[in-house]
Amino acid sequence: MNCKLFCIFVHQIRKHTKAMIEKIQELITEVKALQAGTAEEVEALRIKYLSKKGEISMLMNDFRNVPADMKKEVGMRINELKTLAMERINNLRDAVSKAEVAGDDIDLTRTAYPIRLGSRHPLTVVRNEIVDIFSRLGFTLAEGPEVEDDWHVYSSMNFADDHPARDMQDTFFVEAHPDIILRSHTSSVQARVMEQQQPPIRVICPGRVYRNEAISARAHCFFHQVEGLYIDRNVSFADLRQVLLQFAREMFGTDTQIRLRPSYFPFTEPSAEMDVSCTICGGKGCSMCKGAGWLEILGCGMVDPAVLEANGIDSTQYTGYAFGMGIERIANLKYQVKDLRLFSENDVRFLDEFRNA
Ligand code: DAH
Repeated sequence: MNCKLFCIFVHQIRKHTKAMIEKIQELITEVKALQAGTAEEVEALRIKYLSKKGEISMLMNDFRNVPADMKKEVGMRINELKTLAMERINNLRDAVSKAEVAGDDIDLTRTAYPIRLGSRHPLTVVRNEIVDIFSRLGFTLAEGPEVEDDWHVYSSMNFADDHPARDMQDTFFVEAHPDIILRSHTSSVQARVMEQQQPPIRVICPGRVYRNEAISARAHCFFHQVEGLYIDRNVSFADLRQVLLQFAREMFGTDTQIRLRPSYFPFTEPSAEMDVSCTICGGKGCSMCKGAGWLEILGCGMVDPAVLEANGIDSTQYTGYAFGMGIERIANLKYQVKDLRLFSENDVRFLDEFRNA
């Protein structure tokens, strides 16, 4: 190669290298401004700049044509471009995947594991409903102890000393204290309220009671009752009937009929038991009501004057009514639970059935 030709050749190469440097500079500006909205777009950029046939590889291939004195500068610029392109594309990839995770279809505020919420026990549901109905009728809540004395459970409630309910077969006694017992009915709360308060008294008393019974599908050694008591001037049996009718209709439906049958309780005179028209057949007769069309749900009556006097209330001034019902009984009628034991076994499969009750 003669000298002239060589000079032209060198000149061409230098020109080519300058163009290369300009190209690198352009690509640096381009890469700094890259944008992508999806993973596919990020991948397209990677292919365009960083793949084997991408822009940067092409520059690398061209690198051997760079004259020795310019190799250092060009090499540094290509490296700068490559680092910038890798950083930018990685950043875009991170941003896109974060945006996808935070997208509409994934709720980052949700807990990682589904939490099973508990549900109310069916007896609590029924208890609350009973309390609710009577609250709306003007009754306030009263409670008393489950471990009681004989006076509040029996004597103040006009039970004769030899009444069979006091018998060992019925009542749980605390061995060392024959006077201390587990209450066998919530009527004891009547006495608790009367000793603290003068009429007008209008209370509803829900609670657990205990009886010494063999546990079976139809009996248990503990169950739940709600007691009601209203004492004022001129309270009559008609008032009692009306309140109980109202309760029955709210509890079992507006078509419900009630019927009062004469009965006996030591603490009421007169006394009655109340039936409601069968919640299943409406009174026609079915297996639930054993063909009778009626279901017994509670005991009631006018508070015996002897009970008022025993508890410090003047029976010449005041009269009152009382009633008592079993919560399990009401729950059975509402939900047709055939076996009483289910209420205290706490089998979640049973309890789960009342999730929406
Ligand atoms: N204490 C009664 C029982 O356990 C239920 C009862 C009946 C309560 C009549 C009353 C009532 O207040 O008047 O069987």
